[in-house]
Amino acid sequence: MQVHRSRKRVFSGIQPTGDLHLGNYLGAIRHWVRGQGEKENFICIVDLHAITVPQDPEELRASVRRGAAMLLAAGIDPEETTLFVQSHVRAHAEGAWFFNCVTPLGWLHKMTQFKDKSARQGGKQDSIGTGLLTYPVLQAVDILLYDPDEVPVGEDQKQHIELARNVAARFNHQFGEMFVLPEARIAEVGARIMGFDDPTAKMSKSIGGRYHAVGLTDSDQEIEKTIKRAVTDSGNEIAFSDEPEKAGVNNLLTVYRMMTDKSPDECLADFADARGYGDLKKRVAEFVVEGVRPIRERYFELMDDPVELDRLLEIGAARARAVAEPKLLHVKERMGFAVPDALRG
Ligand code: TYM
Repeated sequence: MQVHRSRKRVFSGIQPTGDLHLGNYLGAIRHWVRGQGEKENFICIVDLHAITVPQDPEELRASVRRGAAMLLAAGIDPEETTLFVQSHVRAHAEGAWFFNCVTPLGWLHKMTQFKDKSARQGGKQDSIGTGLLTYPVLQAVDILLYDPDEVPVGEDQKQHIELARNVAARFNHQFGEMFVLPEARIAEVGARIMGFDDPTAKMSKSIGGRYHAVGLTDSDQEIEKTIKRAVTDSGNEIAFSDEPEKAGVNNLLTVYRMMTDKSPDECLADFADARGYGDLKKRVAEFVVEGVRPIRERYFELMDDPVELDRLLEIGAARARAVAEPKLLHVKERMGFAVPDALRG
């Protein structure tokens, strides 16, 4: 199905749990911020996805507000972007039932994130929640309720967006055209920022030790320490490279490239006089410190005013409901449910 709009519509989501890190920022958030105005943005804090692994209820409640404050601090403008919390828009959870009934089980068993996350929970069938398996179905609902043209995400979400497209095609085939097939937008650079302590693993909220990630609330000193300890190799050549043993240096250069907005050649020229990896780390740390500091400072200011944060999220939820609820009614009607007039709004 095609929808003609004056601006492209964008949908993306982010989990509230764990502090957001440089990978989230460079791989996703920064693209959302830069697309604002030119595109119609819907950005969702996916607290329903968070409970697919065990959560402490108080901590979950607090983390949703922290996530919102961080997105605003990183430049999401609530006038330009519909920023909302998934659980505030009931169509997401309700829609998941209909989508679950249409999505083949075999598609879900192929998802690499399910395999990884269930293995991290010990792979025990009697303790892993079913929601972990059906996670990508809820993600498909998130996306398809808004008929977006684009879904900007990091590399790790590629398979989930592909599944959403397949689910959309299946609905369109079974019940008549009703969903736009969204395109994953994965940036060429920075879509997979690696852990500083282990450049073979992507930077992640749920794994990694003290020097794995740069958190967006880390102090200048913490950022410097993490980057200075970054794992590299035993050589001394500063170059972009796909070689596994050069992954640490490549990751540092990629971060440098993104923080400075320079071309690869310009980046390499900046290090022409460098004396080894120590210099590289020092310069990367300087730019990351300068880039993260204003975000962190704004974040703490925003966290001081929870009433204002809640107000902004309520405005976002109202705007999201206005799109998602009629869409869900349409889906239900097509699937054979009578929709009472009272629900039509
Ligand atoms: P989440 O919360 O894990 O990550 C949010 C965004 O950050 C990107 N990202 C990275 N990019 C580059 N390097 C990294 N190391 C890195 N780590 C994370 C992710 O790719 C993502 O774009 N399932 C999703 C949330 C979601 C969603 C959606 C996304 C739920 N519904 C609908 C898009 C559309 C997730 O857990 O992202």
